[in-house]
Amino acid sequence: MWKCHAGAGSRALSPAHWGFRGWVVAVACVALAGCQRAAEPQFVSSDLVEQLEPELQEQVREQLHKYAGTPNNPKLIGADEQDEQMLKRGAAVYREHCQQCHGVSGDGNGLAAQYLTPRPRDYRMGVFKFTSTPYGYKPRREDLMRTIERGVTGTSMPSFARLPKKDLEAVTDYVLALTHRGELERLLAATADAEGELDEEMTQDAIDTIESQWQQARQNVVEPETKMPPITPESVAAGAALFQKRECFKCHGHDGRGGLAGGIEVGNDVWGNKDPAADLTSGMLHGGQLPLDVYRRIASGINGTPMPAFRDAFPDDPDAIWQLAHFVLSLAEKRRLGVQFPPGAAAAAPEGGEAEAESQQESAEAKS
Ligand code: HEC
Ligand code: HEC
Repeated sequence: MWKCHAGAGSRALSPAHWGFRGWVVAVACVALAGCQRAAEPQFVSSDLVEQLEPELQEQVREQLHKYAGTPNNPKLIGADEQDEQMLKRGAAVYREHCQQCHGVSGDGNGLAAQYLTPRPRDYRMGVFKFTSTPYGYKPRREDLMRTIERGVTGTSMPSFARLPKKDLEAVTDYVLALTHRGELERLLAATADAEGELDEEMTQDAIDTIESQWQQARQNVVEPETKMPPITPESVAAGAALFQKRECFKCHGHDGRGGLAGGIEVGNDVWGNKDPAADLTSGMLHGGQLPLDVYRRIASGINGTPMPAFRDAFPDDPDAIWQLAHFVLSLAEKRRLGVQFPPGAAAAAPEGGEAEAESQQESAEAKS
């Protein structure tokens, strides 16, 4: 950061000796310094920190500053080496394209956020929805980058596929930097609250915890057990039957239109917002349109939301999740193609599907 020099050789030490040029320089300095201060973004503390004793708050902020830096000089917690240039580039891309929604601190509280449903992600909890990892795990870096590149169809989260690859990489790193900063902030606030103090060792423990969680995610990718069977009317029908049997309709409605259309309440997400079950017929699957995307949403569930993971629900039927995915994709297609569902229609099961589903459901109930 540049400093203000009195200029003109600085012969004069007191304002009385500054002369005209000195005053001009001084006034310019004050004005510029003012501009500069206004332009430099600041991280804001979370409520968890605000609730601590002032002295502890200060300690948490100090540690965060030491390990996560500032918006203009960010650091990536857990990185072997700080790629300063990359992080600065990421911060610049973020400021231009993301901050208005996700906020300076990544708290999802940008200027535009209050008008948006769903809300922009608050990264600070370290919880992400669209992962290739099991339920409850962190995402992989690739997952975040894929979401940033694709956007989240059906929400205000835009696609950034047109950004140069290097900018995408850089902003992904910066999202990670904000996320880790938020995670560290939560852990430090909790420790400070419990212990009434904070020291370097506690911070190191917190950083180790964060690193190991992200490391575990890298080693736990959800891959389908079987190759995808071809999409056929039979696989779609089998999926429709499973939709009944596993009671997906309890949240998604019999017609698959989800909470908003069907008025079904399924509770809040971990960010504290109402989270109706997805409208599977909208043709705008948030987690991606590829069969593998839908497979992963069903197998892994959706972190932070009521959508459960069904990975272990079909131990004897390795194709079941594919069949559900085929059914979900068929629903998504139908609305797009203009097929109207009569209100309350049973899930668009092909003929016979419904009766079959019911009898399957009965036999499932009889078994349990
Ligand atoms: C117009 C508002 C808006 C802008 C601009 C925006 N986002 Fe988002 N973003 C959202 C919303 C809304 C969501 C939540 C979608 C959901 O919950 O399904 C989101 C979610 C995300 C997620 C979380 C995905 C997950 O798996 O949970 C990431 C990461 C993300 N955005 C990164 C970015 C980055 C990086 C930029 C800038 C390059 C950006 N966003 C710009 C609105 C925005
Ligand atoms: C307890 C309620 C609940 C149950 C049961 C449930 N879901 Fe969900 N589901 C949700 C919610 C809530 C979401 C939206 C989460 C979000 O993105 O905020 C969702 C989202 C999804 C998505 C992602 C849609 C998208 O836009 O990408 C798919 C696919 C899905 N559910 C399929 C199923 C299937 C198949 C079943 C049954 C095997 C099922 N769900 C059972 C609540 C539920």
